[in-house]
Amino acid sequence: MPQNLDAYWMPFTANRQFKQAPRLISRAEGMHFWTPDNRQVLDSIAGLWCVNAGHARPKIVEAIRQQASEMDFAPPFNMGHPKQFELAERLVELTPPGLDKVFYANSGSEAVDTALKMALAYHRARGDGSRTRLIGRERGYHGVNFGGISVGGMVANRKMFGTLLSGVDHIRHTHDPRNAFSKGQPEHGAELADDLERLVALHDASTIAAVIVEPVAGSTGVLVPPKGYLERLRSICDKHGILLIFDEVITGFGRLGSPFAATHFNVTPDLMTVAKGLTNGSVPMGAVIAHQKIYDAFMNGPEHVIEFFHGYTYSGHPLACAAALGTLDTYADDGLLTRASKMAATFENAVHSLKDMPNVIDIRNMGLVGGIELAPIPGEPGKRAFSVFLDCWEKGLLIRTTGDTIAMSPPLIIENKHIDQIIGTVSDAIKRAA
Ligand SMILES: Cc1ncc(COP(=O)(O)O)c(C=O)c1O
Repeated sequence: MPQNLDAYWMPFTANRQFKQAPRLISRAEGMHFWTPDNRQVLDSIAGLWCVNAGHARPKIVEAIRQQASEMDFAPPFNMGHPKQFELAERLVELTPPGLDKVFYANSGSEAVDTALKMALAYHRARGDGSRTRLIGRERGYHGVNFGGISVGGMVANRKMFGTLLSGVDHIRHTHDPRNAFSKGQPEHGAELADDLERLVALHDASTIAAVIVEPVAGSTGVLVPPKGYLERLRSICDKHGILLIFDEVITGFGRLGSPFAATHFNVTPDLMTVAKGLTNGSVPMGAVIAHQKIYDAFMNGPEHVIEFFHGYTYSGHPLACAAALGTLDTYADDGLLTRASKMAATFENAVHSLKDMPNVIDIRNMGLVGGIELAPIPGEPGKRAFSVFLDCWEKGLLIRTTGDTIAMSPPLIIENKHIDQIIGTVSDAIKRAA
């Protein structure tokens, strides 16, 4: 145990509360974490929606180890190293046709801000520079950088930070209480995509660059898109020349049972952001995967001039690329990019078995993602779910809560016995939180 917890200012954490009763983990393997005193904790959230292949997978560990000794860093501007190119090629083999160009970042937040900048610069490069408006969605989460919180729709992440980017608007979220306890995609709400038409009528399409959505919204409590919604959003974007960005930071790399949400729903965006599962959470990395037409639009000026004035010191970092290649190998070896589809029915039945527990007001699921929404304690939103979180932690289970929703996104290697343990522990905790 560290002697002093004072100096570390923890992210997205109630620091004072945590430091009174710290929860530390110091080792991980497969489906589990261990505390410093060797207590085993089942990981029902793949770390933070990222460790899709489970912890400490040998091919990933070895790839990082080897790369660290071979070349620790390579400058990314005007220089390249082989694994950046190899990884990009491997990634575009997995993405839908047309999404053929990979731009590296170091996190989901950076990937999002990169995609937003790419969208603006794309229109400008085509001589359509009046398209400067960015559209997000209420209840969206796109990381924490200024672009991401501007298009994001979670009030706590926005309200402290001033006026954010100008020229941003939001379409309505897709949560509809009529869909409560839907299994998979809900029936009602495809027409919510028409909200984009409302914004087109308000601002005119000629001012709108792009719309960004999470295909399945994760951080706001697992909102599954209504049947037909994403298709409709795609066709409205096409009609008006607006780029569609899918933020696949959570849905990418097998979470829904297909490599990406785009493949799962058969709706192809113009830009896709990924992170998390890209390296199985092992080394920070994000990426934007862009449609060929977007790349091509940038390639028109003189050849000696940089086409996109953007990039990070650590774009395509050698350790991250090595980790990502080891990750893709591991996913392929174990068939993990489609395994969630095999486990989905069992997982769905298991999470929906909590329907009649006290204070459960909705359950939502898709692939290996589940959200269990609890009625808030009056005047104390989030507290009931957090007490379930603490209770589960005491009983050897790590869950995640957002507001009063318990979110589950286990490693894709999960077995039935783990599902039983998760549901049993959560169910007991929900009873105790009544
Ligand atoms: C959909 C989505 N976009 C972006 C992010 C931000 O990623 P990061 O925390 O790596 O910056 C997240 C993180 O949870 C996310 O869920």
